[in-house]
Amino acid sequence: MIEQLEAIKNKTLTAVADASDVAALAELEIAALGRKSEFMSALKGLGALPPEERKAVGERVNAIKRELETAFAARRADLQTSAFAALAETEWLDVTMPGTKPPEGHIHLVNQAIRDITEIFSRIGFYRVRAPEVDWDWYAFESLNMPSDHPARDEWETFFMDAPENDKQGKMVLTPHTSNGQVREMERRKPPIRMIGIGKCYRRQIDVSHVPMFHQFEGLMIDKNVSVTHLRGVLDYFAQNYFGPDRKTRLRPFHFRFTEPSFEVDITCGVCHGTGKLGDGAKPAVSESAEGHESAPSGSRGVERCRLCKDGWVELGGAGMVHPNVLKAGGLDPEEWGGFAFGWGVERTMMMRTGLRIPDIREIYSGDFRFLKQF
Ligand code: PHE
Repeated sequence: MIEQLEAIKNKTLTAVADASDVAALAELEIAALGRKSEFMSALKGLGALPPEERKAVGERVNAIKRELETAFAARRADLQTSAFAALAETEWLDVTMPGTKPPEGHIHLVNQAIRDITEIFSRIGFYRVRAPEVDWDWYAFESLNMPSDHPARDEWETFFMDAPENDKQGKMVLTPHTSNGQVREMERRKPPIRMIGIGKCYRRQIDVSHVPMFHQFEGLMIDKNVSVTHLRGVLDYFAQNYFGPDRKTRLRPFHFRFTEPSFEVDITCGVCHGTGKLGDGAKPAVSESAEGHESAPSGSRGVERCRLCKDGWVELGGAGMVHPNVLKAGGLDPEEWGGFAFGWGVERTMMMRTGLRIPDIREIYSGDFRFLKQF
């Protein structure tokens, strides 16, 4: 029996030495020492031995078993060490190597502009609000002193929602301006109010300087004794901080139903630097007029009429003193409270910024990566 076990041992030791990896060794161990192994079935003969022999043979058997177990353990340790060594050979990493840069995006230029505008107004105490983009006719028009059949409404080429009307508030519209936020803000909090509402607006329009979805920022200040001087001050403050001190603004008398008096705010064009022309001949308007030159007709050599502006000025948007009827619609007594409001397009404002030369507003929403990557 001992010879039989010794033979099994030698055979097993050779196999252990030949095992190529840890998994093969584990299989071999089960086959050699497991319950169904040749070794274990040989042990069954132990019970048949006379008691005086059993002890000595039993000790030999245990010794053989231990020897085998030790051999398995040693071989396992060896195999693991070489497996790690092989891993280190193939999976090393040079941490000093320069990395691969993942493609990195940035926020869209319109959102950048919104952040800048918000930040500039926040410095003078204006807080950012958002009004609904789909709102009732009441907030978009009626409460702004524009009764339902008033022709002034035509200027806001409005998209109407195919949705049930509300008895008091009328139809639902895609807000054609952010002025719907005015009465909403008056309802939301008691004056003093200094809001800067920024949101999306929608109008049926598309050309070089219009897109059907665009953004506006709406300023509303309501307090006691607010005058046009305050409005001017805030507009100038913004123009100075957003465009830089070299840009000029002007107010033109205008008409809005919801402000009285009303103005249109213009700024010198940032594409043609106020000249109205592009190309070699485009020089600042000041020197041009000082020299008494006539504007070159469009199409003349090297000079092209600026496609974005009219004669060097670009209209940014409207402004004015809040109409008493609007204050009343917002539940405020016009004898006690007064204020100003202004509403400008974000894209338009951004395109007028010094250094930005975007000749067509539609580029902004073209989704063309080559365009967007520049900003
Ligand atoms: N809502 C006006 C527009 O879209 C702009 C405006 C806002 C005018 C506030 C006056 C006061 O044209």
